[in-house]
Amino acid sequence: MTGDIIQFLGTAWDAANAAGEIIRENWQQPKTIDYKGAIDLVTTVDRECERKIIEMIRQNFPNHSILAEEETDVEGKENEHRWIVDPLDGTTNFAHGYPQVSISIALEQSGQVILGLVYDPLHRECFRAVRGQGATLNGGRLRTSVVNELDKALLATGFPYDRRKKADFYLTFFKAFMTRCQGIRRNGSAALDLCYVACGRLDGFWELKLKPWDIAAGALIVAEAGGQISDFSGDEFSIWGDETLASNGSIHTEMLTALKLERT
Ligand code: IPD
Ligand code: CA
Ligand code: CA
Repeated sequence: MTGDIIQFLGTAWDAANAAGEIIRENWQQPKTIDYKGAIDLVTTVDRECERKIIEMIRQNFPNHSILAEEETDVEGKENEHRWIVDPLDGTTNFAHGYPQVSISIALEQSGQVILGLVYDPLHRECFRAVRGQGATLNGGRLRTSVVNELDKALLATGFPYDRRKKADFYLTFFKAFMTRCQGIRRNGSAALDLCYVACGRLDGFWELKLKPWDIAAGALIVAEAGGQISDFSGDEFSIWGDETLASNGSIHTEMLTALKLERT
């Protein structure tokens, strides 16, 4: 690993760890909630975590750009390096005390994600990947599962915040998999869902309309663990696209076929 990457990883971990402490301290406390939409929440803890993460990145890399969920495009700086931050992925879970939340931090270099770190502060699990160098969970090497039939697969998904208006549309995808796989989970943190594919707890994941901060780190972690990530047609995945389909690789074609059959 180059010296730069070691420094980037150190900063990503220090920032995620500091935010993780804030989440743990506030876990049992009453939550102050604002509404970005009817069912799209943000708490004071999301904002506190984001401030902490940005402060720590700035201290180490004052010239880097930062794209963060609650502030978005912080100060609009243009730099070869851009950090992409979700300070608390799983805000609805956090607000309800459902223990599935994470902090997601990725770093782009010239538009390509080169590093991803997702931290689950409640279970103290740190997933990370460096492009071309594999993925780890708390330091141990990650590999996706060996399940090679959709029929035997455990999948996860999530539903976008416009789901009340577009329920039938999103249920099409749910039906495609519900009728063909072993089980489906809806855990509420897309970043962690992707990491669960990377470590083999899940065999596949799909969701629409995720944002770059939900998926930038997790997508790299899946790819570096030997998994596959694409859009719903099998075309190249983009953190700016509307469709995320991740799998262990072995069931990817079957997942694509299931989507195609249900949509025609
Ligand atoms: C949400 C979570 C959830 C997914 C939503 C995301 P947030 O992020 O990742 O699993 O279904 O689409 O927006 O709002 O908790 O940071
Ligand atoms: Ca999120
Ligand atoms: Ca968030």
